[in-house]
Amino acid sequence: MMTSVMNRIIHQEITVSYQYPVVFTRDVFNPANTRLYETLHDAVEQHSSPSMLVFVDDGVAVTHPGLVDSIARYMRHHLPAVTLCSSPVIIPGGESIKSNRPAIEKLLEKMADARLDRHSYVMAIGGGAVLDAVGYAASLVHRGVRLIRVPTTVLSQNDAGVGVKTAINDVAGKNFLGTFAPPFAVINDADFLKSLPDETWRGGIAEAFKVALIKDAVFFEWLCASARLLSDRDESVMEELVFRCADLHLKHIRQGGDPFEMGQARPLDFGHWSAHQLEVMTEFEVGHGQAVAIGIMLDTGLLNNEDADRLFGGLSTSGFSLWHDALEQRDPSGRLSILAGIEKFREHLGGRLCVTMPSGLGSSCELHALDEAWVQQAIKELRERTATVHS
Ligand SMILES: NC(=O)c1ccc[n+]([C@@H]2O[C@H](COP(=O)([O-])OP(=O)(O)OC[C@H]3O[C@@H](n4cnc5c(N)ncnc54)[C@H](O)[C@@H]3O)[C@@H](O)[C@H]2O)c1
Ligand SMILES: [Zn+2]
Repeated sequence: MMTSVMNRIIHQEITVSYQYPVVFTRDVFNPANTRLYETLHDAVEQHSSPSMLVFVDDGVAVTHPGLVDSIARYMRHHLPAVTLCSSPVIIPGGESIKSNRPAIEKLLEKMADARLDRHSYVMAIGGGAVLDAVGYAASLVHRGVRLIRVPTTVLSQNDAGVGVKTAINDVAGKNFLGTFAPPFAVINDADFLKSLPDETWRGGIAEAFKVALIKDAVFFEWLCASARLLSDRDESVMEELVFRCADLHLKHIRQGGDPFEMGQARPLDFGHWSAHQLEVMTEFEVGHGQAVAIGIMLDTGLLNNEDADRLFGGLSTSGFSLWHDALEQRDPSGRLSILAGIEKFREHLGGRLCVTMPSGLGSSCELHALDEAWVQQAIKELRERTATVHS
């Protein structure tokens, strides 16, 4: 007699170990540099003639006019088995590409025209926005093709480009659409940083303060001591910052126990509920790094005054302006507009709010409620701090 299958459960469990190198180098497409070759050659050997489609941020293409030719030359010299689908595709850099559905459709069309298959590679060279947009499209094509990220800004080398997430913006909010898609490899080439405008050079410094403050007091001290050199664009100090910050970020993803963010806590999003809202409120006139510098200052309510002053001093000396009038903007009901960022963050987390706050240098705790009065007080204090500096 057949037994009913009703109410039976098969407990499926899959364990996937995923590795990817994050390589620190210079002048990556110089034929004398074998890092990219070493990163790719084993995988390339396993599949005959894999294809590769390269996308380049226009801000990089303009400031590195020889780049497109050097990529082709490098591939011919070191990896002749890889077929470059076309000449590298230059795409708009900055937040506009993430906020523009037709632009994302175009990326997908380019990938379709290139007839990428499951063994193909997509290489994205650019800032965090380009890496997010190309990474998002690449993670959809054939359910995900191998992505090589070549981040070209400080923020993308020490934060956005080394992790496992992609995203684009939508009317429903910043990063509303996105995927978890670990890259095949990340190549951090310090030489790209030389051509950054000052504001973009500075952007990633805020992310370094963010992660140092909650995880590594020694790194925090080092950042404060290095702030002047960073604002003077000392390249070797910046290289050290990028390495240490990327290392902390990668350790968190590796050891934090929640690489795909199934739980509530998001320590690396410290300062981001208000930062994302400030970016949106100013229509991205305030860039991500600048917004994060302000955002982390707003969430220092549990620090003692002396530590909050040190953070303020470190960020200011690094060149950040820590005030924006949008912080005092009110919606038609008279409520501070920035507070909408709390609801969006809660929605993104899925119900229960969980905001990371530094509780001392190198340590943090999670709060499950953010009082409006508390945020108002934080804004008031930030205004007073900035006023004192400028008076
Ligand atoms: N996926 C993630 O985990 C993650 C994490 C943090 C931030 N992000 C995202 O990263 C984005 C911010 O990235 P960003 O700070 O790198 O800025 P960005 O990508 O917006 O680039 C800023 C500007 O710099 C230009 N540029 C890039 N590299 C250059 C170079 N070497 N020389 C000259 N100009 C160059 C770009 O064309 C652009 O105009 C945001 O959209 C943010 O949401 C993603
Ligand atoms: Zn960030």
